[in-house]
Amino acid sequence: MQFLWIKCEDVLPGVGLGVLTVALFLGAFFFYHEVQDSPEVERNCRMAAEATNNSEEFKMKGHSAFIVGYTGAVGKVLTKELAKAKLFKKVLLIGRREIDLDDDIGNEFEQKVVDFEKFDDYADIFKDVKYGFCCLGTTRAKSGAQGFIRVDHDYVMKSAELAKTGGCKHYNFVSTQAADKNSSFLYTKTKGQVEEELKAIQFERLSLLRPGVLLGEREESRPGEAVAKFFLKPVAYLFPTAITTPMDVVAKAMINNMLAPVDRPVELYENKAIHQLSGVSKGCSGSKSQDGGDKK
Ligand SMILES: NC(=O)c1ccc[n+]([C@@H]2O[C@H](COP(=O)([O-])OP(=O)(O)OC[C@H]3O[C@@H](n4cnc5c(N)ncnc54)[C@H](OP(=O)(O)O)[C@@H]3O)[C@@H](O)[C@H]2O)c1
Repeated sequence: MQFLWIKCEDVLPGVGLGVLTVALFLGAFFFYHEVQDSPEVERNCRMAAEATNNSEEFKMKGHSAFIVGYTGAVGKVLTKELAKAKLFKKVLLIGRREIDLDDDIGNEFEQKVVDFEKFDDYADIFKDVKYGFCCLGTTRAKSGAQGFIRVDHDYVMKSAELAKTGGCKHYNFVSTQAADKNSSFLYTKTKGQVEEELKAIQFERLSLLRPGVLLGEREESRPGEAVAKFFLKPVAYLFPTAITTPMDVVAKAMINNMLAPVDRPVELYENKAIHQLSGVSKGCSGSKSQDGGDKK
């Protein structure tokens, strides 16, 4: 068979070998990331296992929280998980627009529409709110490089400063896998810079989560991401904790971590650790702490 000037029988073996090599390389890469354990697997899995018990004591304290970026994909899942868990007496949902909340979101959730360019004017929202969750973010494709920095750096940092002034004790930030202030990529560099600047604010407790590629429902259409997710579905099936993170796993990990007593001021969770903390992912399968056998 011939295609243009190329004889198929001449190139097929070469193409086949190339595809096989790439498949083997990718398989080895994903397998390596899947079997690599987080250095604190026992701590993380124990925190997940103890979350239900911890939640009872936590609820009685009647704390308040805020979620900035609650209209986004992760923010919405976090809102749902917090609504199910009923941990707070009040949750302030901070965003640039109001959305229809699901019927099962209780009255303790209150939407606060703000102008992020005048964020200082809304300092009162943060008064006496001890727990903060930041799921803000945009993409360079959507907002341009400057717009991306404005949201992913400036708005995030301003929310953290206002939170600290208002009395926030525990700030939770959704960063990204490979965040690095020295990265040559704007996305990972910005996230890395924000992580460093958040540390400098010196919250009593700061939790930085670095999920992999997020999987879950997204209202907004992102064709590039949709294509990537199509190819990542089998990867997520075979290697669930390697490079992908379902959004509910991120939300549950944030909550379980928050419920655990603080043992250090700054916590940095890579993707594997997020899976372990969530208590719903395969991250803890095989860990002794799953059955309580390794509790300290
Ligand atoms: N996508 C991934 O695979 C991936 C992987 C790792 C980490 N992350 C990070 O995880 C975080 C959450 O991701 P996500 O997918 O949930 O994000 P998302 O769906 O894009 O939501 C982002 C949130 O930020 C708000 N926002 C965006 N631009 C804004 C602006 N100009 N002014 C005010 N608010 C603005 C959005 O408000 P509106 O709803 O009003 O637009 C929304 O509430 C982000 O920081 C992202 O970088 C993503």
